[in-house]
Amino acid sequence: MLKQHQRLIAFVPFAFTLGCTETELPRQPDNWNQELILPTLPDQNAASNILEISLQAIEATQEIVPGTATPVWTYNGTLPGPLIRAKAGDTLIAHVENQLPDPTTIHWHGIRLPNSMDGVPEHTQPAIEPGQSFDYIFSLPDPGLYWYHPHVDSAIQAGSGLYGALWVEDPTEPADLGDPVILVLSDIGLREDGTLSDPASGGDTATLFGREGQYILVNGKRNPTLKARPGLRQRWLLVNTAKSRYFQLDLPGHDFTRIGGDGGRIQAPIPKATLVLAPGERADVLLTPSGAPNSEIPLRWIPFDRGYGSTEFRPIEDIMTLRLEGEAAVDSAMPGLGREINPLNLEGAAPVHIQLGQAEGAPLVLTINDKPSWDATPLQAGLHETQVWTIENTMSWSHPFHLHGYFFQALDDQKQPVMPLEWKDTIDVPYQKSRHIAVRFDDRPGMWMFHCHILDHADAGMMGMVLVQ
Ligand code: C2O
Ligand code: CU
Repeated sequence: MLKQHQRLIAFVPFAFTLGCTETELPRQPDNWNQELILPTLPDQNAASNILEISLQAIEATQEIVPGTATPVWTYNGTLPGPLIRAKAGDTLIAHVENQLPDPTTIHWHGIRLPNSMDGVPEHTQPAIEPGQSFDYIFSLPDPGLYWYHPHVDSAIQAGSGLYGALWVEDPTEPADLGDPVILVLSDIGLREDGTLSDPASGGDTATLFGREGQYILVNGKRNPTLKARPGLRQRWLLVNTAKSRYFQLDLPGHDFTRIGGDGGRIQAPIPKATLVLAPGERADVLLTPSGAPNSEIPLRWIPFDRGYGSTEFRPIEDIMTLRLEGEAAVDSAMPGLGREINPLNLEGAAPVHIQLGQAEGAPLVLTINDKPSWDATPLQAGLHETQVWTIENTMSWSHPFHLHGYFFQALDDQKQPVMPLEWKDTIDVPYQKSRHIAVRFDDRPGMWMFHCHILDHADAGMMGMVLVQ
């Protein structure tokens, strides 16, 4: 909370230059983000560039439906897990203790870390058995919003509540981008008695579609309220941690300015009427709320076409309420929003074909290059090699494709970089379409995983490995 305050104070001098009186500095309403504050963890290490924390994977109960206790799986008792807040260049030491009845691991989604810290059981570490612990130690080279989740029975474990955000702040960033709030988007499926839905409910048909929980959550809450002062910029950093659900978001009467994505800031801002986040993806956006004091604007979830059955008869839902308080304020001028990013040099880059599909027959098995994960032969890449991957989706449902440990750049149909440039680790491959990406492996050898981030699909076989050596 201290840091939140520091940011607010840093913001003040810019407000002065706009002719506000000393007694009425424009700032967000009191307790503006109170319903959305995520728990944070005490830093157990005195060194300023080391963040040392303890995470406990443990069962707990949450009240999702008022009056009903839902037993969930959590990090440190909360859903989502604590916000891990660090700055670029820090070393993260995470003592992880497994208090669950099943083995688990933590995968640090998007972080360029050493292979041994990637959290993939059997490939990068043995799973952490119940009652056991594991220490993850690695540095955080790149600013941006990341997240953490298990990599054992991912659909079940993440679907039971195990996920949290990891924000790596950029200490060199202008302080007046906008008052920041982290929004962890997810959903949860409950039975009538309030217990978690059976992860196998609906059988193969539900696996094929990907199970979406019927309750959408923002920072673990249903339709929480975020307050705003009209005219004052806010910065929303969003992550889609849902196991299958895509989020297409609309704030009526407002546009978003997208300034960042998976791998931190993008080359140049993009104005957006709506935001789309496939599972695993992040967005960093600025917006200037406007409207009459005491009015409320719903943030709406709009069904996104990710294939058969994804939009038919599905209502729009309000998932958060933006409540305007106070008289309209005049904001500071927008700071520079660009970032220098160079396109990868694709001369001589090896082409790699990746086909996402479904095996014939029952039970349902999903494949990459005709093999489910348990039969797959790893792809190969050399240290410092650049490759162009063509990911072909032969199915009637879209797949968000995620590569561990490395960022990539999206290419268009002509294999030219998509502008403005940005670093990504998860990309939506629409149904019956192909996407091209360029990736440059560096000097971090090992078995790196890639998979569909619809976790039901990953668990049904849509995972593979690339051996970098
Ligand atoms: Cu968030 Cu293997 O993924
Ligand atoms: Cu998929």
